[in-house]
Amino acid sequence: MQIFKTKNEIQAFVKQQKAENRRIALVPTMGALHSGHLSLLDKAKENNTLTICSIFVNPTQFNDPKDLEKYPRPLENDIRLLEKAECDVLFLPDVQEMYPDKDEKWHIDLGSLDQIWEGANRPGHFQGVTQVVYKLFTIIEPDVACFGQKDFQQVMVVQRLIDSKQLPVTLIICPIIRDEKGLALSSRNVRLSETGKTKALVLSRALTLIKEGFQEQSFAALLSQAKALIAGEGDVELEYLAICETTTLMETERIEPNQNYVALIVAWIDGVRLIDNMLLNNN
Ligand code: PAF
Repeated sequence: MQIFKTKNEIQAFVKQQKAENRRIALVPTMGALHSGHLSLLDKAKENNTLTICSIFVNPTQFNDPKDLEKYPRPLENDIRLLEKAECDVLFLPDVQEMYPDKDEKWHIDLGSLDQIWEGANRPGHFQGVTQVVYKLFTIIEPDVACFGQKDFQQVMVVQRLIDSKQLPVTLIICPIIRDEKGLALSSRNVRLSETGKTKALVLSRALTLIKEGFQEQSFAALLSQAKALIAGEGDVELEYLAICETTTLMETERIEPNQNYVALIVAWIDGVRLIDNMLLNNN
């Protein structure tokens, strides 16, 4: 695997690859890689594309400087995992390389996407995400970029970015990876006790309940059954559970023609904030 730390180096390399008609797939990450990230790489490697993974802990998407400081940076292990997964290139810039101008301003209209759900919880977060993703897209000019469905709102925000800047990138949404019992994989799961891990299964059970009743029952009835299921589990503090239209993430009450829906959930167990979702229209 080749490692590039500067924009100039990676741009020269990509230019050469494009001249040889290679298609480029980008998997943007902040490191601390786990099997969820590796599944993005597997997807990126399909269709004989050159796979570039970026690792950059992006300061502009953190609202709490302590979180940024504490963010895990197990670089040696990440490199080992990427090599094992046969990633072709790692782009590993530092903050100065990505933000040479400390006073750089960025704002993009995300509609209500950066004010609801995760946006409400972390003001400015999605502006920071789009700022860095736009930089990565313009530096690397990938043909495709792989993002995990697990962070569903982030995927919709990145699609907005692509549409509003008319970028020639195809976004590939990679399915959520779950363990054998249904728990969505996340680096936060290691902070759950054994009991917490069992309790956490109620999130995917609640989402499945909604998906199974989606065509037959009212959204209000489904949400109240799912909430009762969660309450019955005990020690699971629900932050939100909603059925939303997939592109705007506005909460809706009934099925409208030609619309797609997703159920979003965030809940706290053992002091750990868990996030999950399920697409409702498809199988
Ligand atoms: O999902 C992440 O790890 C980050 O938000 C991303 C997309 C790499 C941007 O920093």
